[in-house]
Amino acid sequence: DWTMAGYIEMSVEKIRKTVGDRHVILGLSGGVDSSVAAALIHRAIGEQLTCVFVDNGLLRKDEVQAVEKLFGDNFHMNLVVSRTADLFLDKLVGVTDPERKRKIIGNTFVEVFEQEVEKIGEVDFLAQGTIYPDVIESVPIGGNPAALIKSHHNVGGLPERMKLKILEPLNQLFKDEVRRLGEELGLPKSVVWRQPFPGPGLAVRIIGDITPERLRIVREADAILMEEMKAEDYYYKVWQSFAVFLPVQSVGVMGDERTYDFVIALRIVESIDAMTADWARLPHEFLQKVSNRIINEVQGVNRVVLDISSKPPSTIEWE
Ligand code: XMP
Repeated sequence: DWTMAGYIEMSVEKIRKTVGDRHVILGLSGGVDSSVAAALIHRAIGEQLTCVFVDNGLLRKDEVQAVEKLFGDNFHMNLVVSRTADLFLDKLVGVTDPERKRKIIGNTFVEVFEQEVEKIGEVDFLAQGTIYPDVIESVPIGGNPAALIKSHHNVGGLPERMKLKILEPLNQLFKDEVRRLGEELGLPKSVVWRQPFPGPGLAVRIIGDITPERLRIVREADAILMEEMKAEDYYYKVWQSFAVFLPVQSVGVMGDERTYDFVIALRIVESIDAMTADWARLPHEFLQKVSNRIINEVQGVNRVVLDISSKPPSTIEWE
């Protein structure tokens, strides 16, 4: 794409001029915007960029490894992985209220990020994957007051406190342009066309208490759904598809054994902008396969249900 190549050249020049020989830090979330921002800034200033990825213990299966492989091994970026899962999970013990979960995770993120920046030392710029719609609307996505577009970056107030200058190379671009830019910069389809994932991660996909056992269950179930969605090419056709852990036990039978295990709900929706959504009508055979696999492979689950609610009045996430 000629125009995109030209755009990259122009942006790279601008970033080099702005940054000079100074240092930039970027909070990588694994999402489209921060990934594209990282690739663009890295193209411009290479070693002068350090990316920080926070493992909050609420990520999907193999997500940390995927980020390390792509940004560390393939792109050779300076990448710091903050392994702070225990810190987050300790603070979440016994917390069931969705908004409290979000607040704790947001505050802990700021704390951890700040510490990482201090460890890195000389940092002058904080880069963010803010895109044009984030600039023009300060409206919460999906009408969810907790789901402010930038809330999952959780760096509000950080730049002033740390005397960092802001670098936002995507702030003139719409989402589709960000994706094209990402493709041009060599990011894989799995990143450029990734489904949205909430900042609080699996915490809001476990209804009620978050425990290691429940995290294992929802993570395994989610990985199976994702694998099947990708195998059948549905992953890129729907808006979001994920598993939700329900703290409900029901009776089942496996072999000659009576079981009393948990329930997984499948949430698969079509949407244009997350403001409204409808449940995806996927073939029954596909749903049957996913259900069988989850029940057979995920210990502690003996029932899978399908969420057939639309938004509104339901939301996409369960919390
Ligand atoms: P709801 O559940 O309100 O979600 O229909 C609309 C969109 O927002 C995402 N979402 C979040 N994203 N932090 C985020 O970064 C959050 O706390 C959060 N809550 C919901 C949700 O996945 C959907 O795409």
